[in-house]
Amino acid sequence: MGLNLSQKIIQKHLLHGETKPGNEIALKIDQTLTQDSTGTMAYLQFEALGIDKVRTKRSVAYIDHNTFQSGPENAGDHAYIQSVAKKYGIYFSKPGNGICHQVHLERFAIPGETLLGSDSHTPTGGGMGMLAIGAGGLDVAVAMGGGAYYINMPKIVKVNLKGSLNPWVSAKDIILELLKKLSVKGGVGKIFEYTGEGIQCLSVPERATITNMGAELGATTSIFPSDEITYEFLKAQGREKDYTPLSADSDAVYDQEIEIDLSQLEPLVACPHSPDNVVKVKDLKDVKVNQVLIGSCTNSSYMDLMKVAQILKGKTIAEHVSLAIAPGSKQVLTMLAQNGALASIIASGARILESACGPCIGMGQSPAENAVSLRTFNRNFEGRSGTLSAKVYLVSPEIAAVSALTGYITDARNFGDPINVELPKKFFINDNLIIPPAKDGKSIEIIRGSNIKPFPQGKAVSNEITGKILTKVGDNITTDHIMPSNSKLLPYRSNIPYLSDYCLTPCDKDFPKKAKDFEGGFIVGGSNYGQGSSREHAALVPLYLGVKAVLAKSFARIHMANLINNGIFPLIFENEKDYEELDVLDELLIKEVKRQIQSGLIEIYNITKDKKYKMVLNITKRQKEMLLAGGLLNLTKLQEERSKK
Ligand code: F3S
Repeated sequence: MGLNLSQKIIQKHLLHGETKPGNEIALKIDQTLTQDSTGTMAYLQFEALGIDKVRTKRSVAYIDHNTFQSGPENAGDHAYIQSVAKKYGIYFSKPGNGICHQVHLERFAIPGETLLGSDSHTPTGGGMGMLAIGAGGLDVAVAMGGGAYYINMPKIVKVNLKGSLNPWVSAKDIILELLKKLSVKGGVGKIFEYTGEGIQCLSVPERATITNMGAELGATTSIFPSDEITYEFLKAQGREKDYTPLSADSDAVYDQEIEIDLSQLEPLVACPHSPDNVVKVKDLKDVKVNQVLIGSCTNSSYMDLMKVAQILKGKTIAEHVSLAIAPGSKQVLTMLAQNGALASIIASGARILESACGPCIGMGQSPAENAVSLRTFNRNFEGRSGTLSAKVYLVSPEIAAVSALTGYITDARNFGDPINVELPKKFFINDNLIIPPAKDGKSIEIIRGSNIKPFPQGKAVSNEITGKILTKVGDNITTDHIMPSNSKLLPYRSNIPYLSDYCLTPCDKDFPKKAKDFEGGFIVGGSNYGQGSSREHAALVPLYLGVKAVLAKSFARIHMANLINNGIFPLIFENEKDYEELDVLDELLIKEVKRQIQSGLIEIYNITKDKKYKMVLNITKRQKEMLLAGGLLNLTKLQEERSKK
């Protein structure tokens, strides 16, 4: 029986485990990437491993999120990351060089390799035939140290693309169609593997638009084969030596199959406030647009912006529209400047933003209250634009540019002759904003501004745990409740003591004070505790505050893993009714902790009420080792020491 492409790459990188869907497997990671908002913590964690140099084939640190300086915090964090990169063998992409995923595709992505990135849109690299996965900073730190990345073997979905795209229909419409079919939950635990004759009409950046937004399906990752089109892109980037042809065997077997006939697709739009709220552009009637934003890691490639330039050439944007464009990289911006396209864009009335995430992460360009903002980005959740009442729609660059001219969300097919942009034979290459690491980093001093604070580390578990219940919260508490993140707190991602004053405050404003006064304790939660994002800070900050265990009716999967990674016990009530009995400030005691961890059933004694409760600890053997060691970092250090003996 033949293998599909995902299975081939997984087999080649498999360190342990059986590749049966759902089984835990360990993968060798070839490349890592970080961006600045998750990078500072990932590098602090990497430093704590005590390793001299990264053990990946290639690691890159990008600065693209916090590039607006409104205080010294951002620049200070960038200087820290730059010095760590130089010392430990990591390439450093300076602010202005572009958005991590766009630059990685241009300069570093290699077909058939594995990439782990501390950003959820890392799967963009799948456009180049990489197995590219987004993960928490700690997982990336461990991978940089040469440790395995653990994941449950995903199901592999074959996406067969038939036919070819009609004029004015683009790669963005393919992924919007999938979101419409499958919803934002449709990809959980799955890899989407694209195949079929339709992939021949998609260049690498277009394939990357699709794999990028696979993250919105909730997918583990998405991948395209590496073929002649991949070769042409790599050659134009002066990297033909990185090419390897890769595809599924002709008799490959998949867990699920989906077919999309590209010739039947029409321009699509994701309406507020979810990327899967998709309709045909032609079905939206008279939606007046206040703002149009073109860019982000989804749609800011050279070809995307050349199409935009051609549409805008010789025209002026509508009077009531603000059009802002952030080219994805310095390479893209330079080439637009060299060939005159930038002049056409500027002449139309567009505002040029630096090559960075910018408005995609709420850094600038927040729309007016109740405004309609049309974007080429990947997310349109309420409030992400920085304006809670704004209505964000997601479209292709072609639809965005045409709508900026008409002032209404417009089906570009009524607009004029189709635009045709060819992949350049040679991209302009100037890597002077990519700083290579030092040959020997020993003498490099790490720069630590006052915003770089030591981060909390778990301790090997003691045989008795005691403390008070610090707070009791209800069902569906999100990571945003546990550790709020907004443009005011984002610059403090490397400053856990500062962030700790905001921990769980949307639910209980006194929580940080109680945790500090009682030197830690327990949290009691309802069902689905920790849902939402993969935010690691929602575990790190409680660890800093001395939280030893969270007792809940159930946990969201990623948050539960983050708690264990940080040495905090995620305990589930065997009998949900016990939740009702617990009160804030009850004193709890867990005895014989080490034995109880192994048994998977933990007895908690409530000293205040003289009662006992049974809690379930449903975790893997490896996770039990992690809790015993006081978290993933400690376990990795222990394993490192053992391997030296
Ligand atoms: Fe940046 Fe937005 Fe992508 S924040 S990495 S452009 S999703």
